[in-house]
Amino acid sequence: MASREVVDYQRHLRKATHTTAVDVFQWRMSMQTTVEREEIQVAENLKIGWNTLDRAQLRADTPGCGNRVHLNNAGSSLPPACVTAAVIEYLRLEEQIGGYEAVDETQEAYAKGRQDIAQFFGAEPRNLALVESSTVGLHRILSAIQLRAGDRVLVSNAEYAATMLPLLQLAGRVGIRIEVVPDGPDGTTDPMALVRLLDEDVKAVFAVHAPSHNGLVNDVGEIGRLLKEHDSQAWYVVDACQSAGQLPVSAAGFQADFLYASGRKYLRGPRGTGVLLVADRALEALDAFPVDVYGGAWSGPATYSIAADATRFETYERSYASVFGLIEAVRYAAAIGIVPLSAAVRRNAEYLRSKIGIRSGWEVLDRGRTRSGIVTIRHETVSAQQAKEQLTQAGISVSLVKPATNPRDLGTLAAVRISPHAFNNCSELDAVLAALPSTVPQARRG
Ligand SMILES: Cc1ncc(COP(=O)(O)O)c(C=O)c1O
Repeated sequence: MASREVVDYQRHLRKATHTTAVDVFQWRMSMQTTVEREEIQVAENLKIGWNTLDRAQLRADTPGCGNRVHLNNAGSSLPPACVTAAVIEYLRLEEQIGGYEAVDETQEAYAKGRQDIAQFFGAEPRNLALVESSTVGLHRILSAIQLRAGDRVLVSNAEYAATMLPLLQLAGRVGIRIEVVPDGPDGTTDPMALVRLLDEDVKAVFAVHAPSHNGLVNDVGEIGRLLKEHDSQAWYVVDACQSAGQLPVSAAGFQADFLYASGRKYLRGPRGTGVLLVADRALEALDAFPVDVYGGAWSGPATYSIAADATRFETYERSYASVFGLIEAVRYAAAIGIVPLSAAVRRNAEYLRSKIGIRSGWEVLDRGRTRSGIVTIRHETVSAQQAKEQLTQAGISVSLVKPATNPRDLGTLAAVRISPHAFNNCSELDAVLAALPSTVPQARRG
């Protein structure tokens, strides 16, 4: 414990008549910010989670583990066999009885699946919209909140390009003002700096939980708490694209008005799936635009109605097979438990960071005290492209984060992104370390 903690804790002990390990744990948790709480929880669960996680079973569930070393889970993970089976089973049903008839036949299973997804994200089914990707979720949000000239919009430094692009367009088209919240000393968004920027012109706050191009984790729970404490009316939008499936994500816990996530990444669902969670406050105040025949109804020659729940953000046509795959992916993650998953992902990532960080010429770019499963690295002379190619030749999948992902952070140089999941084992991590190129006498290129 840090010295302030020791003093406070001794004071606490003097008051307590009976103290157990659970008391101590709960007391420590009550004293911390959300990120610190998460850190303590993860540290505690590293002991439990790491030991209780059955990695051999995870690997047996994942046919792709036999083909390559897959360390591109931040791109698109390897789905467990049960996810693929759910997709195929649904496609077979469509093949046998027809698409609309399959919907009729699976209504109950679909409703139950929606419930499970909502619960996984700390929400009620009425707050859940099923969308095709995080970006589609964001577009639906932007069409609903209708930012206007002069509106101030706060963003974290580490936003993904797909968040910044439409905001930059809105700055040009309608004259919104985008302001970047300064980072704190650990390189993550400083919640107090954000509070200092608040006034009634701030109409929206965008915060990425775990960015694409850096292993930092923003304290989105603390930001949500402070926005409420300061009575901000700004719409609070959390990007949980990369955190869903590797960190605890709760729309209600983060007090987010909107939260979106992709199915294919750490959640291990099919491509083309995503979720958008919409809080009651937003459902009460905002329309969805444009609605289609699923989210709305043409009720009379010149009238229409809009669904009362978040399905107003959905469209009629979708890949039901993929949605059933997503339901299976969420159940799979929930059955293992997000805490053991998060502990195992983190341990794999920290293992890589600790080994790469001491290798000559390599730099670990990840900021923050609590870090995600995303490890981003650069070499002083070997280009990221060269390094990636070398890893690909060794049968190892990683990805490049190009400067356009976030030029504020990356400047003009790409980085290599290695993103382990819980199913990756130590010999796979060692294989990356062995295959990473060392100094090549050549100028670095982006
Ligand atoms: C942090 C973050 N946000 C949003 C997105 C966009 O997700 P999608 O491609 O599912 O729209 C990505 C994609 O990589 C991401 O990493």
